[in-house]
Amino acid sequence: MKNNKKFVKKIEFDKAATRLLSVFEKEHKKIKNFLINSYKGLPVSPEITEKFYNYFISHSVFSAATVANPSTSVITEFLYDGIEKLNLPSPIDRYFLCSKARRSIKARLQAIEEELPKIIEEYCKKGKVLIGNLGSGPGRDVIDVFSAHYKNTLDVKAIHVDKDRLALERGKRMAKVKGVDHLIEFVEGSFLKYKPTKKFDITLLIGILCPLEFKVCIAILKKVKKSLKKGGCLIAGNVSKKMLEEDPFTCHLMSLGNWKMVFKDENELKEIFKKAGYEWKRCFTDSYGFNIMGVGTPRFYF
Ligand SMILES: C[S@@+](CC[C@H](N)C(=O)[O-])C[C@H]1O[C@@H](n2cnc3c(N)ncnc32)[C@H](O)[C@@H]1O
Repeated sequence: MKNNKKFVKKIEFDKAATRLLSVFEKEHKKIKNFLINSYKGLPVSPEITEKFYNYFISHSVFSAATVANPSTSVITEFLYDGIEKLNLPSPIDRYFLCSKARRSIKARLQAIEEELPKIIEEYCKKGKVLIGNLGSGPGRDVIDVFSAHYKNTLDVKAIHVDKDRLALERGKRMAKVKGVDHLIEFVEGSFLKYKPTKKFDITLLIGILCPLEFKVCIAILKKVKKSLKKGGCLIAGNVSKKMLEEDPFTCHLMSLGNWKMVFKDENELKEIFKKAGYEWKRCFTDSYGFNIMGVGTPRFYF
């Protein structure tokens, strides 16, 4: 998290964090102290760190899932859709669900679902439109957009590429439920190696760059450019520094669970686009400004 160092964390606890800490007051005072001390950057013993870690992964589905695989779409799906309330969510999960950071991820989905149809419409003027949803998870964003706007046309289609077979199975179920399964192909594998038979008009890269350093982001954007048409459109998102500034305690909890982000501002994302050979067109954000989606077009070809 090299570029996060400049930011000086505000050592204060908002209402939600105070409520979470008060849950541990009686029975888990050591966990409360660990959370406060680790957040303040004070030393914590291996013994208490281990106690917390065990508690964290055995009492929170968010934590268990991110520790096992920080880039899993299981987490993004929880963030979009909440947790089934057969049992009340645990204190940590309740905290995550109510946090501003979580609400911003849900708002990111909403922002994409509002912007994507506008971009599709621009490309529809030229003919049929093919979307590549890379690292799609189930691909809820495209499924929702197709279901709302393109159910009755065959002119707009998508290919969802993900290395997680179960996420794709989930996407197939969602697409069927929403009546758009005939418009989407699901491909299992790495999008870095994927060569579509037809190039994409629009490529979506959402929830992929967030944990990655600049050089890796540039390399990924260069790779995906090969599957994008000349004049095509890349939409690539990243968590912004505003999330770290305005919800630092949630970011701290996330980092304890192996969920580490490289927060980037608009200029940094712009720089990544430029260095990877894209012309930066514009960007849009979720309503909290915690996620920036860059929009660009390839400048040159290999
Ligand atoms: C955080 S999830 C985001 C899912 C979805 N794009 C969204 O915004 O809801 C990241 C997804 O990217 C997938 N992924 C990461 N690297 C990948 C790669 N090289 N090839 C294919 N899938 C990848 C993961 O399996 C996971 O489903």
